[in-house]
Amino acid sequence: MAGLAERGTMGLDEIDLIDGRNFVAGVPHHWFAQLRREAPVFWHPEPGAPRDGFWAVTSYDDCVTVNRDWEHFSSARRSSLFQEMDADQLAQQQLMMVNMDPTMHTRYRRLVNHGFTPKMVRDLEGQIVGYADAIIDSVCERGTAEFVEEISAELPLLVIAELLGIPQEDRRMVFDWSNRMIGSDDPEYQIEGHDSSEAAMQVYSYAEEMAAARRLQPRQDLISVLIDAEVEGEKLDQLELDLFFLLLIVAGNETTRNLMSGAMAAFFDHPDQWELLRHDRSLLPGAVEEMLRYVTPVMHFRRTATMDTVLGGQDLREGDKVVFWHTSANRDEKVFANPDAFDITRSPNNHMAFGGGGPHFCLGANLARMEIMVMFDRLLERIPDIRLAGDVQRLQSNFINGTKHIPVAFAPSAPIGAPPLPARAR
Ligand code: HEM
Repeated sequence: MAGLAERGTMGLDEIDLIDGRNFVAGVPHHWFAQLRREAPVFWHPEPGAPRDGFWAVTSYDDCVTVNRDWEHFSSARRSSLFQEMDADQLAQQQLMMVNMDPTMHTRYRRLVNHGFTPKMVRDLEGQIVGYADAIIDSVCERGTAEFVEEISAELPLLVIAELLGIPQEDRRMVFDWSNRMIGSDDPEYQIEGHDSSEAAMQVYSYAEEMAAARRLQPRQDLISVLIDAEVEGEKLDQLELDLFFLLLIVAGNETTRNLMSGAMAAFFDHPDQWELLRHDRSLLPGAVEEMLRYVTPVMHFRRTATMDTVLGGQDLREGDKVVFWHTSANRDEKVFANPDAFDITRSPNNHMAFGGGGPHFCLGANLARMEIMVMFDRLLERIPDIRLAGDVQRLQSNFINGTKHIPVAFAPSAPIGAPPLPARAR
């Protein structure tokens, strides 16, 4: 395979979208551009997958079709995840709503929908501002920080812990678990002899302890809601509850963290955009949408064709694996003018970072937007001279567009006295 430094056109058969190492230097946008141009629905080899390959769908319109047309493109059949699974693993994954199709999916989604309404997000705003200020208070006197661990990871962790009712002191464990599950491809997040399924088991036993405590003493948190919830007249069993918990902690923090980290890195590459935003804060809502488009933290999801069908002029067979790439759709030159530019004034900006409008459209989109907006508002206000002070290290993954480390520096300043962050147990 040609090195990633070589960004010219190559044979399509040399493109490899499976190996996470091909995403470490940066998302291989030159490959996606070539696929959109030459083969927007492309049969990509993958030994071990059905018919030893998958359809890589890269144009915006085809990605939207796959995302919305759940009758042809199922999340349940072989899950929405890229990796192939054995029957037992699959049966367990199918208990998670992200791996269900309507109407079962609709019933599960209803259980948690009301926890994520625009009103509930507005009600949380004050608390999110307090957390963001406390995060900056914890680093501002030093004048340096590790942006990922100390800034962008903290806010989503604090918020998801609050929503689920996880004691804040335990959020470090949540951080480690989700790293090990999402970063299972990256050597840094693997502990020798311990795999991602072990992290999942730890999450389950933690969820079980919490559920037991809430059964005795319910509170105003999502765990208490889930304990009482019923689907078709039956309460969720323990495994379903565990999996809901796992989905929410992973979906709720990895994505938002990597959006903030990726956006900060984008601003370092485009200081003019930072200055623009700094001098006109009214641009912030549009800037958040551009951060989402440009970074696209979740790069793909998978579906399985439920019947023979045609997509982008290609004949798909029942059972075929179909992988649609949000990261490519969001750079489709047919939809976005000058798609590789990071332009915070871009309008319209109908990106699909949260999905393409199908039944699984991100449950936490309102919440994520609020967290991102608040965090960047506080950074622009309090440490506007933030700058890169070392190397950006990216995650090895073809799924999450992730950034592991971003050393930053800024002029030291005094804390403003936000209520301090609860300590994190190590
Ligand atoms: C920048 C941040 C985020 C991004 C980019 C993101 C992205 C996504 C995407 C692409 C999907 C699949 C959509 C589809 O297939 O139509 C999704 C689903 C989901 N997201 Fe997010 N997400 C983010 C933040 C959050 C947060 C903060 C939460 C919760 C606290 C959350 C919870 C979920 C859940 C539960 C699902 C599954 C929904 C379902 O199956 O119906 N996400 N997200």
